[in-house]
Amino acid sequence: MEKKIIVYDTTLRDGEQTPGVAFTLEQKLELARALSELGVDIIEGGFPINSGGELEAVKKISEEVDATVSGLARALKDDIDACLKADVDLVHTFISTSPQHLKYQMGKTEGEVYDMAVKAVEYVVDHGLPCLFSPMDATRSEFPYLLKVCKGVEEAGAKTINVPDTVGVMYPSAMKTLMEKLRKEIKIDLDIHCHNDFGMAVANTLAGVEAGCNQVQTTINGLGERAGNADMEQVVMALHIIYGIDTNIKTERIYPTSRLVERLSGIRVMPNYPIVGDNAFAHESGIHVHAVLKKAETFEPIKPEMVGAKRRLVLGKHVGVHGIEAKLEELNISVEPEQLKEITSKVKDLGCKGKHVVEEDLIAIAEDILGMVPHEERRVALIDLSLNSRLSKKPIASVILRVNGNEKKATEEGVGPVDAALSAIRAAIGREEITLEEYHLDAITGGSDALADVTIRVGDGKTTVTARGVHEDIVMASVTAFINGLNRLMRL
Ligand code: KIV
Ligand code: ZN
Repeated sequence: MEKKIIVYDTTLRDGEQTPGVAFTLEQKLELARALSELGVDIIEGGFPINSGGELEAVKKISEEVDATVSGLARALKDDIDACLKADVDLVHTFISTSPQHLKYQMGKTEGEVYDMAVKAVEYVVDHGLPCLFSPMDATRSEFPYLLKVCKGVEEAGAKTINVPDTVGVMYPSAMKTLMEKLRKEIKIDLDIHCHNDFGMAVANTLAGVEAGCNQVQTTINGLGERAGNADMEQVVMALHIIYGIDTNIKTERIYPTSRLVERLSGIRVMPNYPIVGDNAFAHESGIHVHAVLKKAETFEPIKPEMVGAKRRLVLGKHVGVHGIEAKLEELNISVEPEQLKEITSKVKDLGCKGKHVVEEDLIAIAEDILGMVPHEERRVALIDLSLNSRLSKKPIASVILRVNGNEKKATEEGVGPVDAALSAIRAAIGREEITLEEYHLDAITGGSDALADVTIRVGDGKTTVTARGVHEDIVMASVTAFINGLNRLMRL
């Protein structure tokens, strides 16, 4: 168990096979650089035979990144030639070995498939490159035939054999048994590639490691065909923390890399997703917050900073005084014990009404109870806003604000009305460095007259704050949230 596990990342190949995902060449390069910085050992850059663009992308990745770059190839000469043209460091060739794939997918006999597998590996080796071989649908293959093909490619010079659970039908004990049987017979490196159709891809991958695999195939955010592949973040952190097995992954780069993949793939990470989900390090319940603030390990099996994430104390119906006290401290607001109790009970009341309570709500409650900064003393206040939405041109917004007692005006264009209005506000206060880092819109009720509930994160390069605005008009809800955020930023 003391051996280091090699991390083979297939985000740019199997991950890109996620329905609806296609990366441009520039995006593939940006992702490959991020994966290399993250410390993955091997990046599967793509499937070069697929198209000229794909071949070019894999070639550019090979030129640019430090990690080993592989290309995928069916067990066919043309596919392997495309990998060679893409200058990969390693060729990953595959052919199916299960009875259903032989009969329905390829219409070939076991003998024909065996010959194709061996010939493909020999062809790669003859061209001086290391070869990774995958018997596709290995986990539904008959073991004697699977073993025969594995032995054949081992003899032909393959460097590593990857065992794909192509349709994700394994469970951990079965995977461990299968990999142990192969481990006994095969001398070269064993790799494992699990799909998540029954939600067991990570567990099956770890079972493979228990059985002696020294390489794992994973994707960032678990992207991949159908329900995806084994998730890199979970496999690596489980190896490091639960199994005590090392990899070359720089774990503090996990969170930013996951966010990059989320942004470029357009596939949102579920809030309750392990390691990188928004809730992975969020605590709301009073009991948990109280304990975590005293000793993080009480309810945190992983330190958030270890994966580049941050702990979040959430305000809501389960919050307790300790959570509110910590949050108020973060906001530089000091309160007496009685006031703290009152603020906590108001936050809980809001939570009980089903409201998503954000920092801005807490501040408003605290201000109310402490009599701090009354509304009329806010540094920035909206006096007027007019919008001109033009059919074939960009919309224009004009604002009049009161900023520290002085009237300020500005007019700006934007890609949409919200963008125009926020740009005009930014211009009026003369703070171009202020940026909108996150924007989230909810409709509180159904129908076209629904209340728009906008939550934003706004920052000035040094500090970032959360703010909220609710209005029946989306632009006004956004403007209110932005101005609330500005007031907070300018007070800190
Ligand atoms: O799932 C699978 O079988 C694959 C192979 C190409 C390894 O992705
Ligand atoms: Zn796959």
